[in-house]
Amino acid sequence: MSHGRFDNPVVAAMAGFLDFFRKQELSDKLTENDRFDGKTCLVTGANSGLGFALAVEIARRGGKVIMACRRQIPEAGEKVKKLSGSSDVRMRYLDLSKIDSIHAFCDGLKKDGIKLDIMILNAGVALPKSRKTESGLDEMFLVNYLANVMLTQLLMTSGVIDISGKNNAFKPRIIVISSDSHQGSSNVDYDEFGRYFEYGTSKAIANYSYFKLVLNTYATELSRKLNNGVFRVGINAICPGPVHTNIIKEAPLVLRATLKSIFSVIFKSPAKACLPVVYMAISPDFEGRTNEYMHMFKPKKMDPKIYIPEEGAKLWDRSLELWKSMDPLARTI
Ligand SMILES: NC(=O)c1ccc[n+]([C@@H]2O[C@H](COP(=O)([O-])OP(=O)(O)OC[C@H]3O[C@@H](n4cnc5c(N)ncnc54)[C@H](OP(=O)(O)O)[C@@H]3O)[C@@H](O)[C@H]2O)c1
Repeated sequence: MSHGRFDNPVVAAMAGFLDFFRKQELSDKLTENDRFDGKTCLVTGANSGLGFALAVEIARRGGKVIMACRRQIPEAGEKVKKLSGSSDVRMRYLDLSKIDSIHAFCDGLKKDGIKLDIMILNAGVALPKSRKTESGLDEMFLVNYLANVMLTQLLMTSGVIDISGKNNAFKPRIIVISSDSHQGSSNVDYDEFGRYFEYGTSKAIANYSYFKLVLNTYATELSRKLNNGVFRVGINAICPGPVHTNIIKEAPLVLRATLKSIFSVIFKSPAKACLPVVYMAISPDFEGRTNEYMHMFKPKKMDPKIYIPEEGAKLWDRSLELWKSMDPLARTI
């Protein structure tokens, strides 16, 4: 059975606290000269938490922002415009737990002639137990992992993200919002992979970290496949560290109250936590770089299993097979 680093949410939150004492080597590298003028940036899950703060900061730094969300349309976008002083902010409906919605979203970007320079795969859920989606998949598996596979594949095959490596001086960048809690999770378990089964809180916490390991492994394989000899797309992952957001909104009441008090006292604000992500998204320091990982402003290695080519190739094949088996409209690069 797969397992993640933590199976207790309070222990996981306290481990996040220790992150504050880690040296942040690159924290002074992001400056006001790092701007997104002329760049189109997609942020998933941008109505709340880290994604919302990213939308504000990117818009404030001159980017055209597309907020892909399932709620708070248009209110969250109006708030981003107000806080950033930019009107170049659009919201589009995207529910990552619904395969039809993922297709409609990707088709809409294609139809409207949008070309993405930067895509930040930020949306994620931390559920207290298993939950079945209409496709029969487990919601955390779909939203936190497989939907990101679908998004990347559909946007690349349709040319919304240019993977030719030829056209742009600025090569597209994809950023995966991960969690350092992925370190130490188990190997990908192909007996469980894509299979719905009932589980409770401890396994849910463990799965949250484990699905981040699975996502990082896919991102590494995507980078390997696209940048084989020629640099085409920068695909990097980052953990924002402990952030005071709505990530625990579905936790049971008592646990939520406990975690909220930890979050409000010791976790960072989204406005601060988004800065290393902004750095990775736009800084010239990241030009031509791929398959890198930062834990906040600290460059780091991901879990060693993630770099094993055979693991990446197997995950790639199994993920695309699973998707194709349930979706006749699946399109892969
Ligand atoms: N907070 C932390 O300490 C921490 C630490 C490490 C990594 N992260 C990662 O940071 C990312 C952002 O999370 P957050 O902390 O900012 O939490 P958050 O405030 O709960 O934001 C999560 C976002 O994902 C969206 N989302 C969830 N399910 C979705 C779905 N089915 N379709 C579309 N969007 C969906 C949420 O939309 P709704 O508002 O509609 O639910 C929300 O916009 C996540 O990937 C998380 O794993 C967070």
